[in-house]
Amino acid sequence: MSDAATQKDKLVIFDTTLRDGEQSPGASMTREEKIRIAKMLEKMRVDVIEAGFAIASPGDFESVRSVAEVIKDSTVCSLARAVKADIERAGEAIKPANSGRIHTFIATSPIHMQYKLQMEPEKVLEQAVNAVKMARNFTDNVEFSCEDASRSEFDFLCRIIEAVIDAGAGTINLPDTVGYGEPGEFGAMFGSLIKAIPNSDKAIFSAHCHNDLGLAVANSLSAVMHGARQVECTINGLGERAGNASLEEIVMAVKTRHDLMPVTTNIDPVHIVPTSRLVSSITGFPVQPNKAIVGANAFAHESGIHQDGVLKFRETYEIMKAEDVGWNTNKLVLGKHSGRAAVKARFEELGITFDSQEALNEAFGRFKALADKKHEIFDEDLQALVGDSTHEV
Ligand code: KIV
Ligand code: ZN
Repeated sequence: MSDAATQKDKLVIFDTTLRDGEQSPGASMTREEKIRIAKMLEKMRVDVIEAGFAIASPGDFESVRSVAEVIKDSTVCSLARAVKADIERAGEAIKPANSGRIHTFIATSPIHMQYKLQMEPEKVLEQAVNAVKMARNFTDNVEFSCEDASRSEFDFLCRIIEAVIDAGAGTINLPDTVGYGEPGEFGAMFGSLIKAIPNSDKAIFSAHCHNDLGLAVANSLSAVMHGARQVECTINGLGERAGNASLEEIVMAVKTRHDLMPVTTNIDPVHIVPTSRLVSSITGFPVQPNKAIVGANAFAHESGIHQDGVLKFRETYEIMKAEDVGWNTNKLVLGKHSGRAAVKARFEELGITFDSQEALNEAFGRFKALADKKHEIFDEDLQALVGDSTHEV
């Protein structure tokens, strides 16, 4: 049994911004960009960083390998189909990691097995077991996913999951691949599987939800209430089609509603907003103003009644503190009278830090020159000021 499987109240946060998030059309990232995001995720104390799909391209292999070299405190993971070539490539890519995981998967729903894989269920089961055994030759930390689990047959899931746990999988991930699940039904699937599978206590069960019906976070939380102890998620909910479950919403929901979900994460939420900004600026995907936790209006009060309430006692209209997730509630407006400290703080909120005083001074000089020409300097102006080469996180 893995260590985490024994910690019944620990919720493992598995971030897949760099893999499933990158599968969002138009969101592909360079190796350097992935490293910058991975460093922020490590700082936030994400447990597992899925850095890519090593066999997908030489560039993705290099990205996973570089993230594995640089990241020390989070487990670094590569995705692999349940085939030899993928698993070998993933094993090679995670080799430099302090802690490396191979995440192998195969589809288990009738529709995927018949039309996509064109394989009989027995063959799928055999291939899954072989893949897990093969992956164990590279690392003790193997995750197995039943792709399209939410549309799979219960009895088949029981059989394949029992078999892959016996073969050495320490994490069993049940994806709602097409975002079809509904919270009551999806959560109940976890509860029933955990109860029915004789060796289920030897693995951590994980939820991986897509947002096609806008239910990804609700489905993930329902899974947690029914025994899941890992959730797979992305910053800003980035991901295929309508996206994946959003990390910031899951982490803050679990923290704020501990009365309903008696689990804790390792996440330090103060890094949430800077990481959200960094992902948005790298991918070019803006965050909608009313997005929970990380949207510009998430902690803004407009109506007089709300403002009055908040001024008297913040908790009247605030269930979380903006500062706890990395917002600066003072909302400093930057202009030509702003000082170096305020400008530096704003850069940091955007996930931009400087590796030397000289680099900061240079950026501040450019800021002052621009401020002479504009009334107000916005975040986009600051991002444009530093570009890619002048800073590192
Ligand atoms: O959505 C999905 O099924 C996936 C798997 C590869 C885990 O991303
Ligand atoms: Zn997915």
